[in-house]
Amino acid sequence: MAPLNGALHLLTAAVLGELAPTANILCVGPGTGAEIVQLAQKFPGWRFTAVEPSTLMLDVFRSKAEEHGILSRCRLHAGYLDSLPPGESFDAATAFLVSQFILDREHRMAFFRGIAQRLRPSGLLISSDLAGDLRMADVQNLLGVWFKLMNQGGISPDGMQRMREAYSRDVAVLPVRDVHDVITQGGFESPVLFFQAGMIHAWYAKRSSNPA
Ligand SMILES: C[S@@+](CC[C@H](N)C(=O)[O-])C[C@H]1O[C@@H](n2cnc3c(N)ncnc32)[C@H](O)[C@@H]1O
Repeated sequence: MAPLNGALHLLTAAVLGELAPTANILCVGPGTGAEIVQLAQKFPGWRFTAVEPSTLMLDVFRSKAEEHGILSRCRLHAGYLDSLPPGESFDAATAFLVSQFILDREHRMAFFRGIAQRLRPSGLLISSDLAGDLRMADVQNLLGVWFKLMNQGGISPDGMQRMREAYSRDVAVLPVRDVHDVITQGGFESPVLFFQAGMIHAWYAKRSSNPA
């Protein structure tokens, strides 16, 4: 998946490129932190707060950040966003492939609202999720291509079957317009769909002037 993520990170850097040289970035669910490593290398004055519930992932990210010489600019928080101590406001936030795991629509909106409340006025969100209207034949067709891509990545037939089941059970793959609406209702203005690769879609949006 690295080339797809690389393209997303490249465009993300373009979207965020006008932030101050000392910008403060909130990264929600960075996993092993690929997005942070990319942005930190491109913007050597930016600081990052990684909010990640999996301590295993966070440990991998810590080693990676050390290896790339960026650890001193990263704060690592093990947990969900609501457990991050308040006080700091961020210039931008990323949430790549995270909100899709929140199955309840109200909770998904609350997830974005939590991010909006941590941003300074006009702060930017960049969010990606698997999206598409699974009732539509063209999206089912694309999903087939997506699974073929996974298969070429060396996932076993059993693994593929488990992934198909997980997509219908554990991942809220919503139509593109619905994700747009959830982001808006979560406190952001006019999300722009700026990236698509297979089932991955990414939006950027400015914090609303008064997020609920
Ligand atoms: C599919 S991974 C994506 C990792 C990384 N952002 C990327 O694009 O490669 C999703 C990550 O989100 C984390 N996560 C899941 N739900 C979360 C939530 N509500 N808040 C913060 N992180 C969450 C998971 O632990 C996992 O590390």
